[in-house]
Amino acid sequence: MEQISQPINCAIIGCGNISEVYIENILHLANLRLIACGDILIEKSAEKGKKYNIEVLDVDSILNSNDIQLVINLTNPSSHFEISMKSLEHGKHVYSEKPLALTVEQANLLIETSKKNSLFMGCAPDTFLGGSWQTARKIIDDGWIGKPISATAFMLCRGHESWHPSPEFFYKKGGGPLFDMGPYYLTSLVFLLGPVKSVFSYGKTTFETRTITSQPLYGKQIHVEVPTDIHTVLNFENDVLCTLVMSFDTWSHHLPHIEIHGETGSLSLPDPNCFGGKIFFFNQFKKEWTEFPTCYDFFTNMRGIGISDMVCALQTNRSSYSANGELARHIVEIMEGIHKSIEEQKIIPIKSSCIPPNLSPYIQQNYIP
Ligand SMILES: NC(=O)c1ccc[n+]([C@@H]2O[C@H](COP(=O)([O-])OP(=O)(O)OC[C@H]3O[C@@H](n4cnc5c(N)ncnc54)[C@H](O)[C@@H]3O)[C@@H](O)[C@H]2O)c1
Repeated sequence: MEQISQPINCAIIGCGNISEVYIENILHLANLRLIACGDILIEKSAEKGKKYNIEVLDVDSILNSNDIQLVINLTNPSSHFEISMKSLEHGKHVYSEKPLALTVEQANLLIETSKKNSLFMGCAPDTFLGGSWQTARKIIDDGWIGKPISATAFMLCRGHESWHPSPEFFYKKGGGPLFDMGPYYLTSLVFLLGPVKSVFSYGKTTFETRTITSQPLYGKQIHVEVPTDIHTVLNFENDVLCTLVMSFDTWSHHLPHIEIHGETGSLSLPDPNCFGGKIFFFNQFKKEWTEFPTCYDFFTNMRGIGISDMVCALQTNRSSYSANGELARHIVEIMEGIHKSIEEQKIIPIKSSCIPPNLSPYIQQNYIP
């Protein structure tokens, strides 16, 4: 068992919608101590600072602080590279919200800088550390469905302009169904099946504009700059073929989130945007779908356990951690490849690979109930 040492001092940059979940969860993570928060909009950081009694600093003061060892980058996707790079250049470990960067070139620069400066760099999503995903991986590793052959993954919704308070970024570079929701689906698939070797895709922008129906921007139009309906075939290194559909153009559907089909059985898996959910199993002998019991913990919205796992690795000299930069870079390259395939109508080879994280249920001793 890894021993916990002193908690590491961290600061959040980007105090918007998702920051609240992180702040609440960090209160339960024994090896993280959140000491500051900052945002380009002072009112955003002031609100969180007041609510949670955290020091409010501007971004430069966070970067220059000798007390802060880790930056948690919760800015919008277009700022991820800039904030993560500056943090690494200022000697801070980094954990970024997804996507790691907008291009594989940026992702490579981040990895190079983190290595050069001997710093850890992790990236969301960490949902695959949840109990259902860890169980799914164990089911596959233990051979319950035989050798995986094919998979399907479906994320279809009508976009986020009906609920998110500032939804413009979902329709700009770094957004769209692929860059916004793709990291959950692709990371879970890579965790379960290994790296992807090529992609082929069709896609389109169905609606040129979107009308915001959430507050406070109700009625404002968004110009859409990314494909919003994307149909892809992923070819995995182990020859599994997966159909992936990502859409912000669909009101409703009855499709399963993720299914994995093997030589002797099939698995139907829950929403990879969540840590938990039901797993259904079918095999050639029983010939009916039944719920498969989960065998690990953490099923609720535990965003942040990937940071705790990374810090645990740092504190115990463990060289690998689950939600790591190489994995996130591979996901960026797959997404970039899908967009490129849509534009060029070609099969796009994926050059980067990654070692899929080990089955690594989150360590209970770092969680304060
Ligand atoms: N909202 C969700 O449910 C959700 C869930 C999971 C992941 N995410 C991811 O989390 C990230 C943030 O999403 P959000 O919904 O909180 O967005 P948001 O727009 O509500 O918040 C982002 C915050 O970052 C700040 N910011 C942007 N650029 C900055 C910069 N250069 N320096 C300092 N601050 C800057 C903005 O002012 C804003 O307050 C995104 O990458 C998103 O994909 C969001």
